Amino acid sequence: MPSPLAELHLHLEGTLEPELIFELARRNGVTLPYRDLDDLRARYRFRDLQSFLDLYYANMATLRTAADFERLTWAYAERAHAGGVRHAEVFVDPQAHTARGVPTETVLRGVAAGLGRAESELGLTSGIIVCVLRDRPVAEARRMLEESLAAGVPLLGIGLDSAEVGYPPSLFADVFTAAAEAGLRRVAHAGEEGPPEYLWQALDVLGVERVDHGVRCLEDDVLVRRLAAEQVPLTVCPLSNVRLRVVDDLAAHPLRRMLDRGLLVTLNSDDPAYFGGYVDDNLRQCRDTLGLTGAELATLAANSVRASFAGAGRKAELLARLG
Ligand code: ADE
Ligand code: ZN
Repeated sequence: MPSPLAELHLHLEGTLEPELIFELARRNGVTLPYRDLDDLRARYRFRDLQSFLDLYYANMATLRTAADFERLTWAYAERAHAGGVRHAEVFVDPQAHTARGVPTETVLRGVAAGLGRAESELGLTSGIIVCVLRDRPVAEARRMLEESLAAGVPLLGIGLDSAEVGYPPSLFADVFTAAAEAGLRRVAHAGEEGPPEYLWQALDVLGVERVDHGVRCLEDDVLVRRLAAEQVPLTVCPLSNVRLRVVDDLAAHPLRRMLDRGLLVTLNSDDPAYFGGYVDDNLRQCRDTLGLTGAELATLAANSVRASFAGAGRKAELLARLG
């Protein structure tokens, strides 16, 4: 697989592997509703985004202390680095933790400690993107932003995730404006299950610089031409799309069509502990199933570096190593 890569669409809470769920539950005295690992794994069959989110949020009950978040982050960094990732911009969902009594500062300090260790021990550079849960009240999103900015941890950006349909990006216009004024970069999930209209809103109302998923853009030809002309990066997650039934199977994934339309596509893992693979697994399976050539894989790797928010020097360094 081509290396080095940047991973730009990765939910840290979605890297919570079944073994770690049991370990943290034991340590924190949390009673799990699963008999054993097999019983838990048997539930990793999803009908749609919401059926996944129900399990994803439930399993977060095991994450309680800053040390838990540091452990989770370090485990992701080690695994991603082994798969060729050299720069990662990671999503965190603070509202999913404050809702169960874990302060935003605890979450972000733990994540920052894990990422600091990844940089010093692995040379993996990174940034934190705090995500608004779009299916919760706007006032709560505003509070999340304020608490995140006050946590004393460097933040890279703001994102928008959770249940998409019925929760258009425009709801969060003011929150994204405030985030931009605070110096945060802006991204949003759009066009995963939601319609192309949500991509237009993400671009024109929220002012995002990248769109997460975005696969449904292909239903709107004018939108595709705009995304291609402006080279707006789309952080595509093929194994996620298969597991959440956005596409029937990997052979039916529109990745190749997206590349052929001139879109700036990057490959990512989304929630690798739940969807059957990390970013190198996504690349390998797309190569094998969609017949991606070595040149196309190299293009995806270069796209990921170009679409990242890394500084110019770091980007040049990673691109030079790609050859
Ligand atoms: N949160 C974690 N994974 C997500 C996804 N694929 N879509 C929306 N929200 C998410
Ligand atoms: Zn996602």
